[in-house]
Amino acid sequence: MSDRQDVTFTVNGEEHMIRVGCEHGVCGACTVRIDDQPVRSCLMFAVQAEGTRVRTVEGLATGDKLHPLQQAFWDHHGLQCGFCTPGFLMLAVGILERRPDIAEPELREALSSNLCRCTGYQNILKSVLAAAAEMRK
Ligand code: FES
Repeated sequence: MSDRQDVTFTVNGEEHMIRVGCEHGVCGACTVRIDDQPVRSCLMFAVQAEGTRVRTVEGLATGDKLHPLQQAFWDHHGLQCGFCTPGFLMLAVGILERRPDIAEPELREALSSNLCRCTGYQNILKSVLAAAAEMRK
């Protein structure tokens, strides 16, 4: 039996057929914040969101103004294909909101929970450190 499920649905009038859910939580690309905690959304049932505050990457920017993390990823080439980017952003935003002064070794360890298949880790780390510096201002 396959680990994945084909799902067909219509978004903004356009039909999509996609394969969803690794159901292993391995890569972290689907990370969202539920009540300020990072959660692998592929491991969560929709009903578990009842009554919670869900924050996704779409909620980071303020109008046309990018969040400092988004700007830092832009400025420091923190993404290549971008597949992992929403997950890294949502993981990092929680870390920096709590601890903008986090030390690099600890940040490196925290970011290791997510995978970048383009192996852009050095620039992701550089981007998050730059955002941390900006957020400390
Ligand atoms: Fe491609 Fe990370 S930028 S997976």
